[in-house]
Amino acid sequence: MASEAAERHYSIDVGRMIDRVIEMPGHIRQAWEDAEAFSTSMPASPSRIVISGMGGSSIGGSILRDFAGRGRACDIHIERGYDLPSFAGTDTNVVCVSYSGNTEEVLGLFKEGLDRGCGVSVITSGGQLGAEAERAGVPAMIVPGGLAPRAALGYLFTPLLRAASRWGFVSMDTESLESGLGEASALIESCMPGADLAGNRALMLAKRLYGKIPLIYSGNGLLAGTAYRWKCQFNENSKSMAFCNIFPELGHNEVMAWECPERMREDLFLLMLCDGEDHPRVQKRMYTTYSLLEPLAGGAMRIESTGQDGPAGRLSRLLSTIVLGDLTSVYLAVEYGRDPTPIGKIEEIKEVLRSED
Ligand code: F6R
Repeated sequence: MASEAAERHYSIDVGRMIDRVIEMPGHIRQAWEDAEAFSTSMPASPSRIVISGMGGSSIGGSILRDFAGRGRACDIHIERGYDLPSFAGTDTNVVCVSYSGNTEEVLGLFKEGLDRGCGVSVITSGGQLGAEAERAGVPAMIVPGGLAPRAALGYLFTPLLRAASRWGFVSMDTESLESGLGEASALIESCMPGADLAGNRALMLAKRLYGKIPLIYSGNGLLAGTAYRWKCQFNENSKSMAFCNIFPELGHNEVMAWECPERMREDLFLLMLCDGEDHPRVQKRMYTTYSLLEPLAGGAMRIESTGQDGPAGRLSRLLSTIVLGDLTSVYLAVEYGRDPTPIGKIEEIKEVLRSED
């Protein structure tokens, strides 16, 4: 029988967003298998990759770029807009990612990619993009439908990972993937609705964040896209203001904003996402900055990614930090009495743009 705490959780999380986070390791496993044929059908060994996507469909590209790191053999550009970058040509693979398949920015880049002679492929659950890919005969990874796009991250990121590993600019295989999922799965296990509060890091953090604005800072390495994921999940799931920024750049400007009046600072909660592979000078900057800012903020916490070195360890650090943010955002929504799933204003804006065409 479900505990009282779990029942209370689901009475607010009506769309069961927490279950989607719990399912993420399963989505990743399934997508890894399903993506084999997709990855072999894609144009081989490009010198550049453009990943087109918006919102929840764009994050997979960002975290792939972070995972590939600086030693990657190929440039990865994430395009969150209406136009392809000028460099995109016949040596470029354009991967168009839209969960619904109906996002106008991505549909525009799909067409532009074909017109410019780029290698084009798509990742979608269907929609117009799925239909156009079929018509054009380009490789398409059709993922299971029926989810909120941001809840489909496992399905949208993993085909990119599989393709990148086939192209040889990340190192990943089934065994490393499995071991990379271990930390995220253990975290999920301890953070289920109704789990013991003392072991539920996500719920404890959500309680501390109540009434605050999270400012999420990370280095410009493995966790840069993850900081953005945290921000977007607080925005969409928790219906909370949230902002992110990265080191070392923020130490040259934003850090001064902490000299604002106290009544503004006391609502800010500093979340510092730290990774052991951040550049040593970035680590030093993060440590120093945290000490300076902690006394000024309305709350602060350092979050250290957990996992070893090597591909499995890096994946583990990436995924477990993402999962912690996802879970926290859902629990924060419930603390605010808001169902995490509906995204009324995003849909209203899309509707207005559609109706004006
Ligand atoms: C919704 C979400 C949004 C969408 C975005 C693009 O869960 O996260 O940010 O991802 O509006 O739509 P899709 O993903 O269908 O291309």
